[in-house]
Amino acid sequence: MPYTVPKLTDYSPEALEKASANLLSALNAEAAQVADEDGYKAFRDRWVARKNGILTQINDLWLKSAPKDAKREVGQRVNELIGAVETRVTETELRCRDLAILKKARAKGIDAEIDGSRRAAELSDRIDITLPGIHRPIGAEHPVIKTMNEIVSVFRNLGYSVQEGPVIETDYYNFEALNFPPNHPARDTQDTLFIAGQDSKQQRDRLLLRTHTSPVQIRTMERMKPPIRIVIPGKVHRNDPPDASHSPMFHQVEGLAVDTNITFGDLKGTLDHAMKMLFGSSVKTHFRPSFFPFTEPSAEMYVSCFICGGSGKRGTEPCRPCKQTGWIEILGCGMVDPNVYGFVKDKGYDSRKVSGFAFGMGADRVAILNYGVDDIQMFFQGDVRFLQQFE
Ligand code: DAH
Repeated sequence: MPYTVPKLTDYSPEALEKASANLLSALNAEAAQVADEDGYKAFRDRWVARKNGILTQINDLWLKSAPKDAKREVGQRVNELIGAVETRVTETELRCRDLAILKKARAKGIDAEIDGSRRAAELSDRIDITLPGIHRPIGAEHPVIKTMNEIVSVFRNLGYSVQEGPVIETDYYNFEALNFPPNHPARDTQDTLFIAGQDSKQQRDRLLLRTHTSPVQIRTMERMKPPIRIVIPGKVHRNDPPDASHSPMFHQVEGLAVDTNITFGDLKGTLDHAMKMLFGSSVKTHFRPSFFPFTEPSAEMYVSCFICGGSGKRGTEPCRPCKQTGWIEILGCGMVDPNVYGFVKDKGYDSRKVSGFAFGMGADRVAILNYGVDDIQMFFQGDVRFLQQFE
């Protein structure tokens, strides 16, 4: 018996569920029967024709005649059923089209071709199944994203978890809670892009494009008690005019480890291991004193130039990536400043009990070095000829 839409007298959820299930099983059974274009047309008209199609009928017989207090529920059901029917009709149409194409190809002798056929020689327009198929480019990871993922995975293997934070950040997280007080000259080191129209807000709430991934240190410590070990990949912005080594938008990977008894030795050991994983086991690391408001002591870390092997020369030519010094600056790091814990002390960060280290590196720079790219702008111009080299 073909399915007919019943009149509903019972509008309880159970009755509605049963009526929908019956309709859907009829739909699926009928769709499965369709085998050609004519069958599809009949199927389509029966279900979605405006005049007396099954969808029109459930609208009339179920929704319009539903009592007021059941209308909402029935309306939702009917909408779901309409969606399901339309999807099934489209699928059936596509399936028929494929069947038709297959049938035509069969008629032309593709079968004979596939099994290495006896009749192949007589066929006029043969299909050569050894020809390469149609190449559909599916895209690839962008070299900078790929590099970020590689850096992140080195730290994941050390037990770090991945955290992210907003690119549009408040003054508080980007600066204040990282121990850059308002008007402190250390802010000048990160030329910032501010969001306009924020003057009526207190300074700490004003929005800006984050200049580094370090604010996610604070955001994470607010949510997670020590001990923590996190890596933070992300996009950052600075008011730097673009040139071969600068871009107003670039990428960083940040790290933070806080526990009891973490020392500068842990920082050095961890970062030295990470650099060997990233650049090869013969790479050496070297730390020079530096200053960041949120770490004390602070350092810049250098790796021995893996282009010239640390000699500063490539044959008789000077080595450009390390500016002939044999060392490449790769990141900033240090022991988390006690003042930073002060901003999260009610979350379990007591500077007398915990200690930790942090670091931040430019991912674009690592990508430039690893791939031998000489202009950072290439990464962001979207020229497929450049990007295709990394597929
Ligand atoms: N946020 C710093 C920058 O963008 C880099 C940095 C330095 C991050 C030292 C750190 C750190 O976590 O400890 O210049």
